[in-house]
Amino acid sequence: MQGHAPTPAEETLDAFEAAKGFMPRDEGLALYAAAVEAGALGLPLLEVGSYCGRSTLLLADAARRSGTVAVTVDHHRGSEEQQPGWEYHDPEVVDPELGVMDTLPTFRRTLHRAGLEDRVIAVVGRSPQVAAVWGGTLGMVFVDGGHTDEHATGDYEGWVPHLAPGGLLAIHDVFPDPADGGRAPYRIYRRALASGAFEETSVTRSLRVLRRIGQGL
Ligand SMILES: C[S@@+](CC[C@H](N)C(=O)[O-])C[C@H]1O[C@@H](n2cnc3c(N)ncnc32)[C@H](O)[C@@H]1O
Repeated sequence: MQGHAPTPAEETLDAFEAAKGFMPRDEGLALYAAAVEAGALGLPLLEVGSYCGRSTLLLADAARRSGTVAVTVDHHRGSEEQQPGWEYHDPEVVDPELGVMDTLPTFRRTLHRAGLEDRVIAVVGRSPQVAAVWGGTLGMVFVDGGHTDEHATGDYEGWVPHLAPGGLLAIHDVFPDPADGGRAPYRIYRRALASGAFEETSVTRSLRVLRRIGQGL
């Protein structure tokens, strides 16, 4: 992002830096700028993949600024690559009683400490199931959930139909080069562009932001 891109409150940025998560600062600032732009539509900003609240903080700050709300969906049991023995596993977010991942307590602490709880509706559930019962129109859809084709496609097909005309679709971990990472997010990004229903508005590292300019998937 260049020029006079909006920036989050200093406390939000500090909380973002302190939170567990995978998004670097420059992508976070680009996500924030997109969320502020989308917030001007006066519609909720939707995130798939809350994890410990790192990116949610930015959507919540943008929602506060725009007078709207951030809705974030996660089953809080972690993606494939976050399970024990995998590259992104964090033993600090395992439920000690059940021995399974549970990022919800950390997520809640992140939002509470940043004073942003009142701008967030956290939905605990599987993205396609939540999308199937979701009735409203959204100003933004930010896809950062499961990174398999099944999950990325489910997120895309579940949530894009709820995105308002002029709304923004942000996709994280878009890697054109397979050497950089899995390509399911890249494939839904390509699909969105090929549909003719989206135009690209920003590229920041692996974060892509697209604007809805037509109907279709
Ligand atoms: C990469 S992390 C999200 C990171 C977060 N956006 C951030 O920047 O801090 C992916 C999250 O998606 C969640 N997830 C994966 N598949 C999901 C699904 N089908 N439905 C809901 N949540 C899912 C996982 O539990 C995990 O917390």
